[in-house]
Amino acid sequence: MKIAILPGDGIGTEIVAEAVKVLKALDLKFETESALVGGAAFDVHGHPLPEATLQLAKDADAILFGAVGDWKYDTLDRPLRPEQAILGLRKNLGLFANFRPAICYPQLVDASSLKRELVSGLDILIIRELTGDIYFGQPRGRRIATDGHFPGAEEAFDTMRYSRPEIERIAHVAFQAARKRKAAGGEGRVTSVDKANVLETFQLWKDVVTEIGLQYPDVALDHMYVDNAAMQLVKAPKKFDVVVTGNMFGDILSDAAAMLTGSIGMLPSASLNDKNQGLYEPSHGSAPDIAGKGVANPLATILSAAMMLRFSLNQPEAAARIEKAVDSVLTQGLRTPDIHSKGTTQVGTVEMGDAVVKALG
Ligand code: IPM
Ligand code: MG
Repeated sequence: MKIAILPGDGIGTEIVAEAVKVLKALDLKFETESALVGGAAFDVHGHPLPEATLQLAKDADAILFGAVGDWKYDTLDRPLRPEQAILGLRKNLGLFANFRPAICYPQLVDASSLKRELVSGLDILIIRELTGDIYFGQPRGRRIATDGHFPGAEEAFDTMRYSRPEIERIAHVAFQAARKRKAAGGEGRVTSVDKANVLETFQLWKDVVTEIGLQYPDVALDHMYVDNAAMQLVKAPKKFDVVVTGNMFGDILSDAAAMLTGSIGMLPSASLNDKNQGLYEPSHGSAPDIAGKGVANPLATILSAAMMLRFSLNQPEAAARIEKAVDSVLTQGLRTPDIHSKGTTQVGTVEMGDAVVKALG
């Protein structure tokens, strides 16, 4: 087993170091190899996703990714910006299925910005399509408008598009995930989020998801417009089970869902291709404002490592050990500043990682 370690920028290096420490404490047989990615790679190699980094990722069984991005790169040409690294990895490895579970740990209900009764017991799964939609649709660019409201003016455009097979495969992923959750005592329901009332792309989305749903009579399916879904997520989040949606809506809704759990610093994610090769990263970003201060929450990355063991490396027991250890440090009252509240003990990034290692037992 080979794990590619791509820490990236900002807090990426700090949080990934803690996750690697936890992985190494498990006594499993695997190799790791690290490489620069994002702004860190640009600084050294002049490109956010150097060929060698991409090759390492392709050859690995799984990739543990930190975060990319820093304001100081915002003026670079788009192909050289740090974000292109993660987009390039998703595209080149075909990582179309993004799992973003939002679970509210009972120990953290009061860290959420929502009322306790709304989030207590929350356990939802957002499945975001990750290689299509307006993120990757061509054509895109800038030009002088020849029509529209202001002919002759500078304009920019992107293309929202989805093909039937792209929708079919992500729909299957969602229905199968709901089926699995049902077998484990969950509700077994998929909510497909679209904007079919306005967009052709999402009318096709809705039609195809409905068709695929017929193959899963044991899983309930409902449809929701994305604006309503945003509202329902903060009004009654527990009404969701599995949410499946396109790349851009999923980007937005998953950040909202993250806050329900107390902090975006708690949310892991997995991005899989059709060979179950996966990239695992916290759902949060590089947070340059707190980088280097030793205060970032490493738990989302540590939980991402657990997802990696379960989804790509076939080590479910080791994954469960990590998840139990995270639960245990929260029960001990240890909190990084993002989840700190009265009566708990504030710790830094490294102390939190050490505590998880200790709690592995
Ligand atoms: C995410 C991030 C990325 C995205 C950025 C960094 C390109 O926001 O993983 O949610 O938009 O997909
Ligand atoms: Mg995002």
